[in-house]
Amino acid sequence: MIDIALPKGRLGEKVYELFENMGYSVNESLKTTRKLVLEDSNKEVRFFLIKPSDVAVYVERGVADIGIVGKDSLIESGVDVYELLDLGMGKCSMCVCSPINYVDDGRKTLNIATKYPNITRDYYINRDIDIIKLNGSIELAPLLGLSHVIVDIVETGGTLRENNLKVDAKIMELSARVIASKSRYNFNKAAIDNLINLMDTRTI
Ligand code: PRP
Repeated sequence: MIDIALPKGRLGEKVYELFENMGYSVNESLKTTRKLVLEDSNKEVRFFLIKPSDVAVYVERGVADIGIVGKDSLIESGVDVYELLDLGMGKCSMCVCSPINYVDDGRKTLNIATKYPNITRDYYINRDIDIIKLNGSIELAPLLGLSHVIVDIVETGGTLRENNLKVDAKIMELSARVIASKSRYNFNKAAIDNLINLMDTRTI
């Protein structure tokens, strides 16, 4: 049996659809179930439903064989895992954004609200910055004067548009990745490779 850490929410549901197309399924709706461990009816795989930013930790610690994470969570968490496959799903960008009238004069300390302090620190390596770590609705921070700019994910751009914000710089492109625990991969390599190859042929 292979243990798979799935991120709860939008991305997890898309990835679960991919597993269904591959012939795996559980007798529950991922959208409504409160269960956190779901077993495939043929008992070939087990899914753990995990907060997206915690998936990499479960995999690094060897509690799951593989996991699906956004590249953003993967970089931010700094975990020591194998990155085996780019699923090409959940494509988006990590960007610096600010109110449409804001101009960064480059001189004073830049206040930045973000869920991603490590990515932000690495990007502003030569700049005096003050990071304000938040957990969600990041776009609100510059609107209310909590920060000058934000570092956050832009997918459709809808949240920026509806809140009169703009993209100032693109830091990196992101998408969903399949990661594997180093210890469990070395122990279970053939089975994990088979599953990854199957996932690869089913993604676009
Ligand atoms: C993410 C991200 C942006 C938004 C971008 O937030 O932090 O706020 O999606 O998507 P868009 O460009 O398609 O509008 P999420 O919905 O995960 O919720 P959060 O604000 O609680 O982090």
